[in-house]
Amino acid sequence: MLKPNLLAALNQQINEEYYSSYIYQAMVAYFEDNHLDGCAHWMRLQAAEEHEHALKIFDYVISRGGRVVLAAVQAPPKDWPSPQAAFEAALAHEKLMTANITKLADLAQSEKDHATNNLMQWYVTEQVEEEANVDDIVNKLKMVGGDGAGLFLMDRELKSRTVAAPGGAA
Ligand code: FEO
Repeated sequence: MLKPNLLAALNQQINEEYYSSYIYQAMVAYFEDNHLDGCAHWMRLQAAEEHEHALKIFDYVISRGGRVVLAAVQAPPKDWPSPQAAFEAALAHEKLMTANITKLADLAQSEKDHATNNLMQWYVTEQVEEEANVDDIVNKLKMVGGDGAGLFLMDRELKSRTVAAPGGAA
């Protein structure tokens, strides 16, 4: 049985993962509106991956006999100043998620809940990849700057993403 403080923290993280999916889906709408279908495609897969992240904790809580309680998901922003700004916001968001996961892993360790800690270690590894993937895109977009041809090529590259992400839950 999960301790109440861990159960509450896991339920909170389920909500955070759903919000991650929601904010990335909002970025899909933003990119589609700006005719960047490669960026939109990449974010669609990212949103789907975040949904899987939420479900992974959802199913874990149930497997431990805990009660999943879903809360309202915060409304995401609608617009960003540029494609680069959107990916920078995604990177900032992933850093926030890494901090959340680290806190959860710390709590699982202090409560000596090895199973929850084990699950959190999966997320710790996943967060390293998540941050690296988005950081790479941010850096390339910085190189492109305001060059339309460069952005066109970058958008085409992002369209080739075929899996959620290396090590992803999907
Ligand atoms: Fe599930 Fe990208 O954090």
